[in-house]
Order: sequence, then C-alpha cells, then structure tokens
Amino acid sequence: MNSKVYIQEVAPRDGFQGESRFIDTADKISFINHLSNCGFAKIEVTSFTSPKAIPALSDAETVMKGIVRNSSVVYSSLVPNVRGAQRALESGVDELNLVMSVSESHNRSNLRMSREASFSALVDVINYVGNATVSINVSLSTVFGCPFDGNVDFASVLQLVDRFAELGVDGITFCDTTGMAYPTQVQKISSTLVEHYAPLDLTMHFHNTRGMALANTLAAVDAGIYRFDSSVGGIGGCPFAPGASGNTCTEDLVHMLHLMGYDTGVDLGMLVATAAQLPDMVGHEIPSYILKAGSREKQHSFSC
Ligand code: COA
Ligand code: ZN
Repeated sequence: MNSKVYIQEVAPRDGFQGESRFIDTADKISFINHLSNCGFAKIEVTSFTSPKAIPALSDAETVMKGIVRNSSVVYSSLVPNVRGAQRALESGVDELNLVMSVSESHNRSNLRMSREASFSALVDVINYVGNATVSINVSLSTVFGCPFDGNVDFASVLQLVDRFAELGVDGITFCDTTGMAYPTQVQKISSTLVEHYAPLDLTMHFHNTRGMALANTLAAVDAGIYRFDSSVGGIGGCPFAPGASGNTCTEDLVHMLHLMGYDTGVDLGMLVATAAQLPDMVGHEIPSYILKAGSREKQHSFSC
C-alpha cells in the first residue's frame, strides 16, 4: 500500500469561483496564506479566465502576486486559453491547469466553444509555454457523467488523455463535475488509468453533489490513485453546470485518510481553523462535517 496521499486544495478557485458575493482580494490572500501553512502538496490559487465569465476571480493577478509562498507548495491556476496563460505566467504560477470537458454540451456551456476548439486552444497554450519552467496539468471535466449529455463514453476520455500525453503534459485531473461518479465506476476507470498512464500525475477531483465523494475517493485509492483535489469547507462547483455543488470537503477527507493510516502531510487542526473562517467570508453555511462535529477524538463531558 502506498501510504502517501497528496492533497491538492482547490477552494480558492473551485470554491470561490461561484460565490455570488465578491470576496475581498485581501481576504482571499489571507485565506490562501493560511492554507499555505496547512501542509498541502498543491493549492489552486485562482483562475485566469474571462472576468465576464468568472467575475468572482477577476482579481487573479493581485491574488497570485500577493500571497506569501511556501516553497513546499505547488501554486497552480486554471487557464482556458493563451490569454489566460500569459496572465498566469506573468503572475508567477508554478503550474498551469488547463481545462476542457469530455462532453460537448458542458464544454460549450462552460467555455463557449466546441471540444475541438478547446483542444486546439489548449495546444496553443502548450506551444506558447514551450520550455518555460512551469508544469502543465489538464483538468478534464465531466469524465464520470455530464449534466446535459448523461453518460460519458470512457473511450472518449482515454482519447483525450492520449492526445494530451503525446503533447507531453505532466498530469491529468479527472473531474466529476456534478457528482455523477459512483464507486464501482471509479474503481474501474482508476484501475485502467493507473495501468496505462502511471508516468503522468493522475488526480481525481470529486464533487459531493450526491454524497458519494468519500466513497469514490476510497475506490480510487484502492485502485492506486494517490492524488486528490478537495476543497476546505466543502465549497465549490462550476457555475456553468446545472445542479453543481461542493467538492470533496478537505477536512472530512483528511480526517478519514488519517484514521485509515494514510499520510497526507496536512495538519488537520490548522485546516479546521482555516475552514472556520469561511462562513463569514462567503456569507453562508458550509457543508463540512468535521467543522460541525469535530474529529473522532473529540469527547464530550458526561453527565446524567
Ligand atoms: N483572461 C482575461 N480575459 C479574457 C480571457 C482570459 N483568459 N479570455 C478571453 N478574455 C476576454 C476577451 O478579451 C474578451 O474581452 P472583451 O469583450 O473586453 O473584448 C472577452 O473575454 C470574451 O472573449 P472571447 O474570446 O470572445 O471568449 P468567450 O466570451 O467566448 O469566452 C472563455 C471563452 C473560455 C474565455 C470563457 O468562457 C471563460 O473564461 N470561461 C471560464 C469558465 C470557467 O472558469 N468555469 C469554471 C471552471 S470549470
Ligand atoms: Zn470542480
């Protein structure tokens, strides 16, 4: 058993992108600075997308340039096109997280172009980056099902993985955009990916829309996946996918994995303290279980 699991925190991007109330830039920076001390392998800081599409992250440059960086964290940002890549590189990201969907309808809804147009925009990004010292990850949306098109053919996922692998990307993230994945499906897909694409960094990105995110994580771990995106507080969701809701909650995930003997490197106490800032920042309750219940070690005083 590989006992090391890499936790990649996405709340500042996937979490904040859909919040209706604009979160102050200074609050975002301070929140990411707290996350930087929690022990994450990677933090997705923001996205360099059109500010018309994602107004909540229109301060991407200021946030990326304003954070205090921890040298053991990879700082990543979502990018849909060359314009985004230019902005991200100029802001000093360690990794570009390119994005497109496996399903045609979600790609058109999210990125306002066909899948093939997105693929070619991402090839342009890869060519633009050239030999710059920055990693390239590709996040594929709707891998496990699409809210518009329904089931997604796994062969079409593999075709895209092959095409990006040929272009020399460093990693691929498999996104369950609206919580359609289920454990036996995840187990099957993960086993195939581990068998054929192990040299790539393979990440699973689950949303808990139907309550299956932790079960899906365990299915993936059993199949040999050891990188996961998750979001502190369990916030998140794509604004262009109907019914989308929060990512796997990071503190719930870390709590479970630690009980099972996995090493995530994440300090759960520090993480929960950071999660506790969120309801005030975003102006609503958050789905985290551990924030509400405390960890399994918590004991209540007994009186009868
Ligand atoms: N950064 C900043 N501005 C950008 C940009 C980028 N990466 N890409 C495009 N723009 C600007 C253009 O300059 C243009 O501005 P203008 O109207 O002032 O001239 C405007 O955005 C529209 O550009 P266009 O090329 O016509 O794009 P579009 O409107 O078809 O949108 C995307 C395409 C991909 C740029 C947009 O849909 C997008 O950013 N989507 C991101 C979705 C997302 O992040 N979803 C959640 C994560 S899964
Ligand atoms: Zn997501």
